[in-house]
Amino acid sequence: MEKLLDLISQEMGRAFAAAGYDESLGRVSVSNRPDLCEYQCNGAMAGAKKYHKAPLVIAGEVAGALTGEDGVPGEESVFSSVEAIAPGFLNLKIKESFLADYLAQMSAQEKLGLALPEKPKTIVLDYGGPNVAKPLHVGHLRSAVIGEAIKRIARYNGETVISDIHLGDWGLQMGLIITELQKRQPDLPYFDPSYEGEYPQEAPFTVSELEEIYPYASKKSKEDEAYYAEAMDNTHRLQEGERGLRALWKQIVTVSVADMKKNYANLDVDFDLWLGESDAHDAIPPMVERMKSEGYAYESNGALVVDVCDPADAKEIPPCIILKSDGASLYTTTDLATIAQRTEKYHPDEIIYVTDKRQELHFVQVFRCAKKCGLVGEETQLKHIGFGTMNGRDGKPFKTREGGVMRLERLIADIDEEMLGKIRSNEEIPAEEAEKTAKQVALAALKYGDLSNQASKDYVFDMERFTSFEGDTGPYILYTIVRIRSILSKYEAQKKENAAADSTEAKDNGRKPEALADETGEGTSGRASGALQIQPAKSPLEKALMAQIAQFNAVMKSAHEETAPHKLCAYIYDLSNAFNSFYHATKILSEEDQTTKAGWIALLTLTEQVLTTTIQTLGFDSPARM
Ligand code: ARG
Repeated sequence: MEKLLDLISQEMGRAFAAAGYDESLGRVSVSNRPDLCEYQCNGAMAGAKKYHKAPLVIAGEVAGALTGEDGVPGEESVFSSVEAIAPGFLNLKIKESFLADYLAQMSAQEKLGLALPEKPKTIVLDYGGPNVAKPLHVGHLRSAVIGEAIKRIARYNGETVISDIHLGDWGLQMGLIITELQKRQPDLPYFDPSYEGEYPQEAPFTVSELEEIYPYASKKSKEDEAYYAEAMDNTHRLQEGERGLRALWKQIVTVSVADMKKNYANLDVDFDLWLGESDAHDAIPPMVERMKSEGYAYESNGALVVDVCDPADAKEIPPCIILKSDGASLYTTTDLATIAQRTEKYHPDEIIYVTDKRQELHFVQVFRCAKKCGLVGEETQLKHIGFGTMNGRDGKPFKTREGGVMRLERLIADIDEEMLGKIRSNEEIPAEEAEKTAKQVALAALKYGDLSNQASKDYVFDMERFTSFEGDTGPYILYTIVRIRSILSKYEAQKKENAAADSTEAKDNGRKPEALADETGEGTSGRASGALQIQPAKSPLEKALMAQIAQFNAVMKSAHEETAPHKLCAYIYDLSNAFNSFYHATKILSEEDQTTKAGWIALLTLTEQVLTTTIQTLGFDSPARM
């Protein structure tokens, strides 16, 4: 379905053309003076220079082309009023019937009126990026939450998305853990090079042990040179493929990933691929060979590097280090080899990475190097979505009360508990349901609190504000949805009662939506079936709500094109406000006129569909009640 603004702009464009001006001047936008009009067109001002005419004269002629002698737009026009205002604005209002028809048509479409691409893109989305054997902390939260939303938004927009967690499972941290395990349990068969038997099925550690071992070993390696050298050696031997170390590594990964899966499931985040840096290992040697033989990589101070600077750079971009002087690969190397693998396997149109914005330079280097060395075609877009830091109320990176790094599990438990306190105050909800509901609302609070900020910005994690049922919060949106559903189910109950009392009264007497040519040019065929019986608005608040709903396809599309989930948050906040204003001013269930009432119910049904669809693409869902 075409966007509402496009439809309105087309009519305006035809009016400009009819008055002898360029059609493209007819672009209409939402009014920035809602007290004066609903929409506006500034084309007359833009055209003044070209046509050497006063903008107000042009605006007057265009308005004349749209209205009859009486100054009122004709029967077939989408406008109910068109006014030329000094210095040359066109102030516009649209017809209630046109808006109602647009909404009815939208309600009958599978994607609520969102037009899907003719040729979907293939997108590889790299997010999450946790490191094996290190506990997930709040820093990983943003990547998971933002990445999941980007994925779902792209899929709703019809694209093919392959999500990959890209585990950090190959670096020095693995060598450190292996080294410390060897100190503690030297008799394990993994460390005996002459051992030829099967290794034990059961891992010789638990996930909590792993999480204790890593920081211990990391600290020790910084104080003890020999320990560090041993960890480096173990990392090297692991990467070279020593059988025992590979077997032990496999168990570390298995135990750690099982725990991660639980954590991500709690966040309602999932990945198609659970690949990691280690999976790029075999692709490194052929890639390095190619870089060398094609003359891109050269030796510098013993290391192998590729230049990626550009004379136009304001700040110098250092060369990409492919191999260190000891031949070891780096984070950059695995990322490059992973690009080569993804290109070969999926031929993606885009690869998107969601990480902390402090990794920006890394991605500039990797992207330039990948393009320069032909690991990926020119036509493939490589994008880095860098996010800001989640801060505490003191404006510093979020910490535990004791000042340590906050584990993700702990953060989630805290917000769940806060929410449970609020849900329990509703005595109608039994204990078990309250717990489930609290988790669901808490997740919405957490995700919405994050996603409602532009990703690149830092934000403050404010438990009190995020969990509030009022204001720009996840719980407020859920509360609105729950309120709508409650009205809808009361209406259904009323209908049943009435049907029992008098079967004729409950008959659906809503009017059929009028024809509205769709973009296929086939008129109304194929849409009337599922369309809701939306009625033209009877009040400004109702019209404002309808105008908000009509924006859905435009916002959903731009949130995708700009990888900007925060636009959807802003949209559902405005929509919820528009609904609540309408709701407070309207006695829906006690309305006597059955046609009017059914029209409102249809409007509520559509509002609920739009809100629910949007929160699901953002990555959370609503409870039955709260
Ligand atoms: N494991 C990395 C980290 O903790 C994030 C990985 C992001 N993805 C990537 N392809 N580099 O910083």
